Amino acid sequence: MKPKVFVSRRIPDRGLEKVLEFCDAEVWEDELPPSREVLIEKTRDCEGLLSLLTDKIDGEFLDQCPKLRVVANYAVGFDNINVDDCTARGVAVGNTPGVLTDTTADFAFTLLMSAARRVVEGMDYVRAGRWKTWGPMLLLGRDIYGATLGLLGLGRIGSAMAERAKGFNMRVLYYDPYRREDLEKELNLEYVDLDTLFEQADFLSVHVPLTPETNGMVNAARFKQMKKTAILVNSARGPIVNTNDLYEALRDGEIAYAGVDVTDPEPIQTDHPILKLSNFVVCPHIASASIETRGRMAEIAADNLIAGLKGEALPAPVNKGVIAKRK
Ligand code: DGY
Repeated sequence: MKPKVFVSRRIPDRGLEKVLEFCDAEVWEDELPPSREVLIEKTRDCEGLLSLLTDKIDGEFLDQCPKLRVVANYAVGFDNINVDDCTARGVAVGNTPGVLTDTTADFAFTLLMSAARRVVEGMDYVRAGRWKTWGPMLLLGRDIYGATLGLLGLGRIGSAMAERAKGFNMRVLYYDPYRREDLEKELNLEYVDLDTLFEQADFLSVHVPLTPETNGMVNAARFKQMKKTAILVNSARGPIVNTNDLYEALRDGEIAYAGVDVTDPEPIQTDHPILKLSNFVVCPHIASASIETRGRMAEIAADNLIAGLKGEALPAPVNKGVIAKRK
């Protein structure tokens, strides 16, 4: 008999076909995620769950899904999952690292460039019929080449940003709790403390995971340290940046601009005043959303799920060493 699994949203066929072949799967077809109650109800008798970053998986959830042996998250980030709770119950957890690194860094750089060169404002200007002639002072932005990029976090995506910055002849500073001397030479990076990072960056790009330590770490005090001409880019997780502090910093000219793919909350309330600011560019959490990358993510998530169901080591484990124990 095929193992029962719940797939909490439709994912690309490349992964879904594998899941359907190996498992007795129910797929949630709605655009919106299932509520917690529905997620529990659907997963209660399942051995596997292919989850999304909108699904909160914790001890209380796991205790109501006693057969669950593996949670395969369709994302590299796994702040939606209490990994300790999973480990304590012998539930293997997998994510999708690596395959989305370049796609996400491409998009973070897109946000950086859109903010620096005021691309969205330009589009709005044209659409509003305001483009009458070539203007010497029209929509002046900031140069990217030769500027200083500050990377908050030097994991895979932070490093991929540094590679892109090389092509723009940028000076690149980084802060990470783990110093990467091996990468410093290769990517021409300077390791600095947090204060220096915020004070010297022309572009400050966020690449740390969301943890209790990073939650709200980009806040009013940090904006005050930044250059008034600085641009913030966030393609990591919304709650790392305090939304109201960001709004005030942009409104009051503490920093010049922000380009973000993630917000807190997500989605941002449509009546939030930050959406009225012209120096704010926001996208709906699509940094990894290329056709190829989303297909590869689906494949890894499926491989994690199936390995977990077979009682094998996951190809991309989060709690390495935890082989699905529950029967
Ligand atoms: C992730 O993978 O963590 C992204 O936020 C979605 O691709």
